[in-house]
Amino acid sequence: MNFTLALMNDAWAIPPIPDPTLPELRRFAEKVAADLDPGSRYIAELFAVFDASSDAADLLARLADPQRTAVFQTDGSQASAGERGFSWVDPQTWEVMNPFERVLSNLLTGETRMMWSGEGAPEFRRFPEATAAHPREQPFRVASIPCSTGKEAFSLVAAGLEAGLDVHVTGVDRQPAYVERARSGRLVVHGRDWDYPRAGTYLQRSGQGPTTIRDAVRARLDFEQGDVLTGALPEGPFDLVSCRNLLGYFRGETLERAWTHVAARVKPGGLLLHDAFVCSSAEMAPVRALLEAAGYRRLFPDASYFRRDHDA
Ligand SMILES: C[S@@+](CC[C@H](N)C(=O)[O-])C[C@H]1O[C@@H](n2cnc3c(N)ncnc32)[C@H](O)[C@@H]1O
Repeated sequence: MNFTLALMNDAWAIPPIPDPTLPELRRFAEKVAADLDPGSRYIAELFAVFDASSDAADLLARLADPQRTAVFQTDGSQASAGERGFSWVDPQTWEVMNPFERVLSNLLTGETRMMWSGEGAPEFRRFPEATAAHPREQPFRVASIPCSTGKEAFSLVAAGLEAGLDVHVTGVDRQPAYVERARSGRLVVHGRDWDYPRAGTYLQRSGQGPTTIRDAVRARLDFEQGDVLTGALPEGPFDLVSCRNLLGYFRGETLERAWTHVAARVKPGGLLLHDAFVCSSAEMAPVRALLEAAGYRRLFPDASYFRRDHDA
């Protein structure tokens, strides 16, 4: 699909309204929510905040209330009540997001961690084995879709370097502010960013200052805006496409469309990386059926890599 056509199909297009009212923001949220898992607690929590808000300014203040998000940002696991969008970025990133983008970030959050310190740890560990068949003298092209504020893409460069690959990662996300933040190479702080003995090979910081990626990592990255639902994504094809922690938000036709657009970027014989929820939950059975029909084979019982058949 070409980019113009993709944008015309953008059901979640950000309305060109500089100062939206509460009902305008709510209508946008309802439109996005219609494409998502109706049982999602993010949806219920966001609409509870809408119900409690007197106007748009009040809503936006509630969505970024630092006191209500402080525990969540420190701990990273406790449920907040509708402020998850803000919780997974930081004030600098939030500031450049318009009101519609802030609402969107509560329905599909930017939750992300360095893969070594989160639920991506088994996939990070298995990376050398998963990529062992790739000739080391050839470049290894990776897409991280979606990349949020960059930690997955940063992690995949680290994993590629540890596996002895000439790795290059393209990160893609729908939220322009996340893409910009990822490009900056500055991590949104999380308590476990450094939870890896070799973290200092890829990350740097001075004193209590911000953590940034090292130049050797940055040189292997690029970032762009894209959308798994419209298909406005880099063409590739890629040796590895990582699509973690997004498909679980979708159901039905939307889920199938998102997966199809992502999987189309994997080279024959290449790898597709998902997450444990896609691999095991009842809700994601349609994705597993799509994987099988398209000739994908799971590589490990304890990590979410799939190899595309060479002839597919
Ligand atoms: C939970 S994060 C996952 C980030 C990363 N894959 C990880 O696991 O660390 C979900 C991301 O999906 C992005 N997103 C939401 N809808 C999208 C779409 N239609 N196309 C591309 N990215 C989207 C959000 O902006 C958010 O950054």
